[in-house]
Amino acid sequence: MSNDQVRKQIDQLTDQLNDYAHHYYVLDQPKVTDAEYDQLLRELIDLEEKHPDMKREDSPSERVGGVALDHFSKVQHDVPMLSLSNAFDDSELRDFDRRVQQGLGHEATYSCELKIDGLAVTLKYDNGRFVQGATRGDGSTGEDITSNLKTIASIPLKLNETVTIDVRGEAFMPKSSFNRLNKAKEANDEALFANPRNAAAGSLRQLDPKIAAKRQLDIFIYSVGQLEGKELTSHHESLEYVSKLGFKINDQAKHCKNIEDVIEFCEGWLEKRADLPYEIDGIVIKVDRLEDQRTLGFTAKSPRWATAFKFPAEEVVTTLRDIELSIGRTGVVTPTAILDPVSVAGTTVQRASLHNEDLIREQDVKIGDKITIKKAGDIIPKVVNVLTDQRTGEEKDFHMPTECPECNSELVRIEGEVALRCVNPKCPAQIREGLIHFVSRNAMNIDGLGERVITQLFEHELVEDVADIYRLEKDELLKLERMGEKSVDNLLKAIEVTKTNSLEKLLFGLGIRYVGSKAAKTLAMNFETMDQLKEASIDQLEAVDEIGTKMAHAIATYFDKEEVHLLLEELDELGINMTYTGPKLQSAEEIDSIFAGKTIVLTGSMEELSRKEAKEKIELLGGKVTGSVTANTDIVVAGERAGSKLKKANELQIEVWDEAKLLTELGLIS
Ligand code: IVH
Repeated sequence: MSNDQVRKQIDQLTDQLNDYAHHYYVLDQPKVTDAEYDQLLRELIDLEEKHPDMKREDSPSERVGGVALDHFSKVQHDVPMLSLSNAFDDSELRDFDRRVQQGLGHEATYSCELKIDGLAVTLKYDNGRFVQGATRGDGSTGEDITSNLKTIASIPLKLNETVTIDVRGEAFMPKSSFNRLNKAKEANDEALFANPRNAAAGSLRQLDPKIAAKRQLDIFIYSVGQLEGKELTSHHESLEYVSKLGFKINDQAKHCKNIEDVIEFCEGWLEKRADLPYEIDGIVIKVDRLEDQRTLGFTAKSPRWATAFKFPAEEVVTTLRDIELSIGRTGVVTPTAILDPVSVAGTTVQRASLHNEDLIREQDVKIGDKITIKKAGDIIPKVVNVLTDQRTGEEKDFHMPTECPECNSELVRIEGEVALRCVNPKCPAQIREGLIHFVSRNAMNIDGLGERVITQLFEHELVEDVADIYRLEKDELLKLERMGEKSVDNLLKAIEVTKTNSLEKLLFGLGIRYVGSKAAKTLAMNFETMDQLKEASIDQLEAVDEIGTKMAHAIATYFDKEEVHLLLEELDELGINMTYTGPKLQSAEEIDSIFAGKTIVLTGSMEELSRKEAKEKIELLGGKVTGSVTANTDIVVAGERAGSKLKKANELQIEVWDEAKLLTELGLIS
């Protein structure tokens, strides 16, 4: 090829790949498969390596992260990056509207947008080329983080027009990326990020852009800072314009005709926010007409033409009174923070998870500390921060005990695990937790026998192992507190019916290490009886799809134990069924397929599987994969940066899965 031809080829590949990336990351409408994209990118990188002088500034190969810096240089903002005033309820929103109307002498319409919980950045484009990106800093001076921002795939390196423009937006980490990142950190025993906002900020503050490139950040552009040679008349029009230039804007923005409309919009999102694939902390309300914005102007800190409706706090400050330890079914010791009761996200919270000793050390938690706790959805609240500057000196260090608080045997830290464990198999706490597990829903599923009653039975020494549950008698139960004739009869009946449960329920209930309910089902289907499973060799176990080496060894070790043989004999004598009675095994692929007959839409990008692979696997299990979300869609699998399809799925109340859920259901992870 002549130099001219190479240049032409590089130009063509760069434009084509940028167009594909725009469709994928900004519009959520992929034009080609991941494999095709990767192949073209490899071709381009090849040419660029041979002809580095011909590489374009907006080459997609820039996204992988360039050389590491030793510091960030400062950037003076041409137009200051201000913050917003807040409104915490309807009446404060109406006050804001009143001030606006007074300032203007007439009514205003508003543009309402989600307030994305990330960090504000400003992006500078010179004749359509991305030249600089910076953080907000103190509002007038920020830091130059251009090379990190270039790794965000939804930031265009070149615009569709050769304009000179500054835009502002919120860089953020989607919830799924955040969860994945923290999981990986946990596995490596590293400190976790408290929330997606900190994770996004931490990623963009790395001097090595290769780190940011791995973090899967995203951005929504929400305003135009400066623009040469074009007049815009309204905020909603400016959003349309930046979208046309190639930027990603949030598709939930709404133009509201008055403040009542605004209030309705805000209230709607109080509920729906949990379903979003990213975190928001409120709604931003902006006077829509730009001329009205200019009339209203600014106070020293914030514009008079905008305000932020803040959702009720999900993070609150309280005092840590004590740290309690609980022992799980497998002996793991979990510390729990006992708090001064505090209201967070609509519920009163008195306990929060501290995970493990390392986290207590890392967070430097002392008893008596003021701490910030966070509650997301139904999840147990977490301690996210310790307010060390509020210490009085009265706080006390916490030390994990060296002995099990329940049975006094020595606690051990198993190599490769963060957790401390009580390894005494007779530890009463472990036995009680094991009993609770045995009766739980996915195990034997005994109605009316939950944590409270089990604890009662255990404390009265009526049950010491799972077989004892089937030996309970009416007169001894009647002696217990809160146990009337009727509830005892019901309980005994509920216990009786579980004797005929199919094998997998018992198998899961026994609590064999690594054997979850799905694996229990697979084992039951393949081996059919407890005896055959008990006799299976490691090779036979491993030959079963979905049963790995670790699990096979755990199963064999379990069935090697003398006490297990005795327990199984007792259960057998008590009339507990030990045979699989579910549908017969047909082929390995058909096991438990929840995909059969279902219509599935894949959207966004996935980490572990290409779309093609996911489609093949789903089809193998009897599912159908289609391209658009309609009322006939059963499941939408939303990967990273899922956009309009996810929105549609939420509108139609279609079940949405993340990648992890898909992988689990495909049996690729457990
Ligand atoms: S407009 C003059 N729109 O919220 C400030 N801000 O205090 C104009 N934010 O740090 C900001 N989503 O980064 C605007 N749709 C949105 C936003 C948004 C998030 C952040 C912004 C700023 C803070 C406002």
